[in-house]
Amino acid sequence: MIIRELTQTEIPEIAEIERRCFSHPWSEDSINDSFANSSNRFYIAEFDGVIAGYVGLSVIIDEGYILNVAVLPDYRRKGIAKALINHIISLYKEKLAFLTLEVRPSNTAAIRLYESFGFEKAGLRKDYYREPKEDALILTLFMNKGNI
Ligand SMILES: CC(C)(COP(=O)(O)OP(=O)(O)OC[C@H]1O[C@@H](n2cnc3c(N)ncnc32)[C@H](O)[C@@H]1OP(=O)(O)O)[C@@H](O)C(=O)NCCC(=O)NCCS
Repeated sequence: MIIRELTQTEIPEIAEIERRCFSHPWSEDSINDSFANSSNRFYIAEFDGVIAGYVGLSVIIDEGYILNVAVLPDYRRKGIAKALINHIISLYKEKLAFLTLEVRPSNTAAIRLYESFGFEKAGLRKDYYREPKEDALILTLFMNKGNI
């Protein structure tokens, strides 16, 4: 498996991963806009030559916000999401006070993944998601607490 930064020509493949992973996927245009924002970084996992997963990260001064993590259904439970998150933690651990994200409380797979890194429940955003309507759980990993 190779983890590296996304290039602009690969954005259609990220849009395809979005379509296959989410009921409300990011459109190719939204990914393009997000990619063009200098605060954001996108990393991909290549598995057997296929872009099997990606993570998007927004960095504002010393705060890191995970925009999204997704792995194609056929490539799950192979450690790809874990490798992507490990990659951003190693790259940014000296620069960030914390990494945070929102997740559906029903998304057990993602919550287990984040908890395995030491992310902790930090709050709830009421009715954050639609179709189906659901609150968002805020999970945060403090970099300066000896968690990593
Ligand atoms: C969540 C997601 C990114 C995990 O990707 P993955 O590459 O399959 O995850 P990994 O193989 O790296 O798993 C790492 C750990 O996460 C946990 N985990 C992952 N999938 C799990 C599942 N279906 N059930 C329970 N735990 C799970 C386990 O602790 C796992 O370690 P283990 O395999 O040694 O038990 C993937 O299921 C996905 O793309 N889901 C749809 C999109 C999504 O919900 N993204 C998160 C938005 S916040």
